[in-house]
Amino acid sequence: MSANAAARRVLSGMRPTGALHLGNYHGALANWIELQYQYECFFFVADWHALTTDYNDTSRLPTYIHEMLIDWLAAGVNPGVATVFVQSHVPEHAELHLLLSMITPLGWLERVPTYKDQQAELREKDLATYGFLGYPLLQSADILVYRPAFVPVGEDQVAHVEITREVARRFNHVYGGEPDFEAKAEKAAKSLGGKMATQYRQLRREFQQAGDQSALGKARALVLANNRITVADRERLLGWLEGSGVSVLPEPQVLLTKAPKVPGLDGRKMSKSYGNTIGLREDPDSVAKKLKTMQTDPARVRRTDPGDPEKCPVWDLHKIYSDEATRDWVYKGCRSAGIGCIECKQPVIEKVVEFVTGMRKRAQEYEDNPDLLRTIVVEGGEKAREAARDTMDEVRRVMHLRADL
Ligand code: TRP
Ligand code: SF4
Repeated sequence: MSANAAARRVLSGMRPTGALHLGNYHGALANWIELQYQYECFFFVADWHALTTDYNDTSRLPTYIHEMLIDWLAAGVNPGVATVFVQSHVPEHAELHLLLSMITPLGWLERVPTYKDQQAELREKDLATYGFLGYPLLQSADILVYRPAFVPVGEDQVAHVEITREVARRFNHVYGGEPDFEAKAEKAAKSLGGKMATQYRQLRREFQQAGDQSALGKARALVLANNRITVADRERLLGWLEGSGVSVLPEPQVLLTKAPKVPGLDGRKMSKSYGNTIGLREDPDSVAKKLKTMQTDPARVRRTDPGDPEKCPVWDLHKIYSDEATRDWVYKGCRSAGIGCIECKQPVIEKVVEFVTGMRKRAQEYEDNPDLLRTIVVEGGEKAREAARDTMDEVRRVMHLRADL
């Protein structure tokens, strides 16, 4: 990997919930598949995260991990360009989590919105554990151990990336101090070489004076692309962009996923916990059957009643799956009672059936050949560990934990 790519590194993960549904696809997976061709991507199965809410029944974890990985691959996650792995295969996540736990105030974790929300929502579960309180910090470690520039997530995860940035800032503040930092940073800038040095200083000024994020990104890329400077100088230069100390753990940015609304069969958001989903590899007959009984505009009781697509979840599916001509046909036909709901659903049924049929076909290859999946995650795990080890070497060094006694 070129150093330049590290400035454009992306990391994201998913809890293993078993086979994924259309909501997961449009909410995250489709975005990953695009990103993998633009950035150096790391995608992982967050199996330890599953334990934070479900420690007492781990028996289905292997199946969940397996099913989800097959969905990723069948959907188009390409292990030839992206690094695909399982969190628990990379123990560096746990080490960084432990070290970060030492500097993280309890209040930061107690204030994460999902902490109280989930405790209220998931009454049937025991969430009064240390692990559950700490899971946003585990997520911070997941992220920071790869030092990515971006973390693509949905709205619900933004607070977790925010706490990650705070933890990184604190880490850099506590462990990034060194005597004569300014002078050393000046010297490091000089060692970039004439033109680069000027560019670096200018970008730094643009970021510090105007908060220009793109200048910050460019400056980081410039530093990371330079392979003549030492690791220590690189961290000084990264740190000097934003503060007055070495930056071992750069603050990542959220890459908010633009996801269409995917309604479930009952009209609420598609979600496993509502039992209103269509699986990515669901049997085509079952898909058709489910869609035929899907909730429509509740005011349209009889075939002769005109309907309102804006009040109909099927319309949200047309927005995802239908071309303009079809959408036009739906919009007019619905409002004039020119078409019936069964008729209206037909094009969506065809598209979704086509999608799941393709998914099933591509998944079959992995089902038939378990070694294929095993090789992908073993290789992915090794690649991920290499990157994670680099970070941990630096983390241990600045924390004076290097075993060079
Ligand atoms: N918490 C995320 C979720 O529930 C999954 C996750 C774990 C994650 N670690 C991550 C996402 C790191 C992005 C980056 O969906
Ligand atoms: Fe919904 Fe289509 Fe029926 Fe209108 S015709 S209510 S858009 S399913």
